[in-house]
Amino acid sequence: MSTTPHAHPAPSPTGYPVGGTPRDAADVGFRDLTDELTDVGLELTGTIPAWLSGSLLRTGPARWDLTEGSVNHWFDGLAMLHRFAIADGGVRYANQLLRGKAGRAYEQTGRIGYREFATDPCRTRFQRIASLFDPGLTDNGAVNVGRLGERWLAMTETPLAVVFDPETLDSLGVERRAGKLSLPNAHPHYDHATGDMLDLRIAMGPRPRYEVVARHPAGGERVIAKIPVRRPGYQHSFGLTGRYAIVTESPLVFDPKRLAVSGRPFIENFRWRPEQGSRLWAIDRASGDVRGPWTAPAMFCFHHVNAFEDGDALTVDLLAYDDASVVQALAIDRLREAATPPVPTLRRYVLTAGSTAVEPRQLAATPFELPRINGRHQGRPYNVVFGTGSHHGEDGAAGGFLETVTKTTIDDGRTAVWRDPGAFAGEPIFVRRPDGADEDDGVLLTVVLEPARESSSLVVLDARDLGELARARVPHPIPFGFHGQFARA
Ligand code: CO
Repeated sequence: MSTTPHAHPAPSPTGYPVGGTPRDAADVGFRDLTDELTDVGLELTGTIPAWLSGSLLRTGPARWDLTEGSVNHWFDGLAMLHRFAIADGGVRYANQLLRGKAGRAYEQTGRIGYREFATDPCRTRFQRIASLFDPGLTDNGAVNVGRLGERWLAMTETPLAVVFDPETLDSLGVERRAGKLSLPNAHPHYDHATGDMLDLRIAMGPRPRYEVVARHPAGGERVIAKIPVRRPGYQHSFGLTGRYAIVTESPLVFDPKRLAVSGRPFIENFRWRPEQGSRLWAIDRASGDVRGPWTAPAMFCFHHVNAFEDGDALTVDLLAYDDASVVQALAIDRLREAATPPVPTLRRYVLTAGSTAVEPRQLAATPFELPRINGRHQGRPYNVVFGTGSHHGEDGAAGGFLETVTKTTIDDGRTAVWRDPGAFAGEPIFVRRPDGADEDDGVLLTVVLEPARESSSLVVLDARDLGELARARVPHPIPFGFHGQFARA
């Protein structure tokens, strides 16, 4: 009898093996990780392509349980950094709690010390006013990592980022990404000609507005454009082409004047107002001129996928939810009960000079999240999007969350899926083969949770056919996280 590189128990009629159901994944994938490893070699099956060399750096929440109770939301867990160093066909791994001010306050007290996305250390307004100590905004960089010049930053949706060492994962200090009354998102873009980091942020104060800003590696910044707005919408990412930045507003909005005094956690200040629809603006990156807004039916979006110019028209692709219920669906209690959150679909908005309203077109039927593309096609025409999706059992039972790796081709609207029954996949990061010409010529790196084994693995897939090339097993389960970046050696 032959064995595959990773043998699995036989699937049950629901398509899940013993110990590998969505319920098991919820138990293991949202459990606090206390273990920290410095630099360990991983047990490897399969073969890593010889050309693949560098480090996958990832962040995500990893500790939700406090001395009393838990934080409220998946996003509010204390950030943990993970590093997979790939060299000479092998993989080494390290992980470390992000020790900015939020991480250190948690370590010293077992409580959270700062206002998080959906959890506030001052639980009532009375306590807030009674307290002379304003806990301030967090630097819990659990959402994304990025590089500005030589500095690696762990980021969340506040003005504060933690600088870390990409080799040791040690936290080196806290850096301001914006002024006190600004909320930058954690999906910056890069201007490869200048090395600038391009941020979209919500500036509050007396005249609330969206700002697109170029931050220079040596310090300083240039505000490219300001879009005044009465009630800003929640912002998680934005679009970018060679000429334009694209700002998309979902009607999940807040009143900046009330935010500071409401006594409620950040996201509880937002209201879903579908009657106002969604809006999109295109900002000329050179002149700062703002085109739009174009209006569109109400939708909620975390992630833009790509955008590109086609003559006078501007195409914007994003993952859209019908409403903002996903925000509540990602509460930690609900995820720990294995409730499956909604998953968005890929929609295209074409902004034309002669119109002010835009009707989106769904590009593919299969929903997915955590989109990644070949970076060479950023801001240009493209055809391939990778992501993670849910599997629905043969018996029609609700599927698991973050379970499959998806590959959607836009020209035919089809989605190919990689699934390992009983394992649960994270964001698939595309790494181009150095001399690869085709858009999908490269590999996908995804961190997979294996609840039955109480482990996680870095899985390397061939991006062309989603075939598994290699799997490097980590001796502890890595909680479900968000985003990472690959730094070539
Ligand atoms: Co994100």
